[in-house]
Order: sequence, then structure tokens, then C-alpha cells
Amino acid sequence: MLVTLNEILEPAVKGGYAVIAPDFLNASMLSYYLEVAEKYQTPVIASYPPLPVDRLRNFDRWTGVLRSRCDSAKVPVCLHLDHGKDPQTCFRAIKAGFTSVMIDASIYEFEQNLEQTRQVVKEAKKHGVSVEAEIGHVGAYRFGIESSTTDNLLTDPDEAGSFAERSGIDALAVSIGTQHGQYKGKPDIDFKRLQALQDRVRIPLVLHGGSGTGDENIRKTIKGGIRKINVFTDIIKPYLKATLNGLKPWHIKNRKMHQQEAVERILKSYFEVSGSLGRGSI
Ligand code: 13P
Repeated sequence: MLVTLNEILEPAVKGGYAVIAPDFLNASMLSYYLEVAEKYQTPVIASYPPLPVDRLRNFDRWTGVLRSRCDSAKVPVCLHLDHGKDPQTCFRAIKAGFTSVMIDASIYEFEQNLEQTRQVVKEAKKHGVSVEAEIGHVGAYRFGIESSTTDNLLTDPDEAGSFAERSGIDALAVSIGTQHGQYKGKPDIDFKRLQALQDRVRIPLVLHGGSGTGDENIRKTIKGGIRKINVFTDIIKPYLKATLNGLKPWHIKNRKMHQQEAVERILKSYFEVSGSLGRGSI
């Protein structure tokens, strides 16, 4: 069942768990995610990277296909645009039928970030679409996000509080030490900062760069108020390995099965650690 980000996060806020937001690159990845979500009765935020929004000529039609696949799932599914790099990209996704968009203007100064975010919120509200934005900046190490710089800029709790109130967004991505892609060293999460953010911000907090953060850290961030966790690298690595293995002649007919197994193994473990496993009955 297709739902908005607001609708999927509301029970997570009440239940004290986080919903997993895995990025998908193609229809089969989406199908695998939905199959795993249905098998374990778990809500999921199917996240689409921003690049195809600009490049696909049939983006509206393609979105229709994604929407109907998500809508026929027997668990709540949010169709979310990840890291929309400017308001125009978000407008396209809203018009095409996404139920949630992220505007990522986090590389800009506060006022410019706020201005771009407000433009998106105004348009999204007309269509009943949810909006996520980011303040501070989650950096990237070997990760293909255009709007991402490599360095982390940790989120200031007062700025975050004011940004959430003035922008009208539904969820706020914060930078507390996680990183997109592979970590350069060990993850060093600033839990004190997270506590201050939880005290100051009234809307659900989002953790980007979930991969490699570790179960213990993830559990602590959820205690600290994180309600959406983005994960990509930990899924794409085993998925690609399974895909490449499947190219060997003696594996070809099992390729799909290997891909499914790889996705199930990692996604199930994230469902478990996030506390969302089994929370998707509709
Ligand atoms: P990871 O690849 O580090 O899990 O980050 C994913 C992400 O935050 C997508 O927005």
C-alpha cells in the first residue's frame, strides 16, 4: 500500500522504532525490497536516487510503474526521492507521483537551504506529498551523490530546531558523524549532539549513511530519536557481487535467486536492528 513519509513515520514515532529506507536502482531491486518487506511484514521507504529524474525521458510513465508496484504491496511503502538536488528535480518527482521527496540543499548556507526547502514544501503540500530536508551536511566517501561534498558538517541543534519550524518539513536529516558510502575510519557518532537535537526538534529525525555504522550504534541512534535510516552501500555491495557471480555460465540461471538472497540477508538484518520488523500489517 502506497503511503506518504508522514504516514509511515507516524507509527514509528509512537512505537519508538525506525523505518529503513534502502535506495533502489532498477525495478528488480525494488521488487526484491518489497518481497522482503512483505515476507517480514515490515514497512519500507523505497528510495530513488535523483539522477534518473533529470535523465529519463519517460520519467512520468516510469513513476507510474513504480507507484503501482508499491501500491500493490501488502505492507506500507513510501515512494521517496532521495537527495533531490534542487527544487526543480523535486517538483518533477512530485508531479510524477512520488509520495515523498528529499530536497538536499545542505551544501548551502542556512537561509539559502531554507529558501529552497520552503519552495519544495509549498509545492508538495498542494499534492499531499511529504518533504525531508537536511541541515548540517552528511559527507560522502566514495559515494555518487552530486550534491554531496566529502566533509561532514555536524548539525547545530539550535539551527536544526529553527530550520524545522520555519520550513514546514515532515522529517529532518541530521549530521551526527555518519557518512555516505564506506567509512574512512571507524564511525564516531556524536550521541550528545543527537540528544540535543532530540530535545530541540519536534519532527522525526533521519540518519543518512546507515551502512557500516554498526548494530550497537544504530540501536543507540534510535533511542536518540532517529526514525528513518537510509541504507545503500551495505546492500549494493552484496547485490553487485551476486550479479557478477551470476554472469558465470554455471550460475546464470540462479542469478536472480542469488540477488534475492543477498538483498534478503542484509535487509532483514536492518529491519531487525531498526525495530521495524513485523510492524507493517495493514
Ligand atoms: P550508505 O550508502 O552509507 O548506507 O548511505 C545511504 C544514504 O544515506 C542514501 O541517502
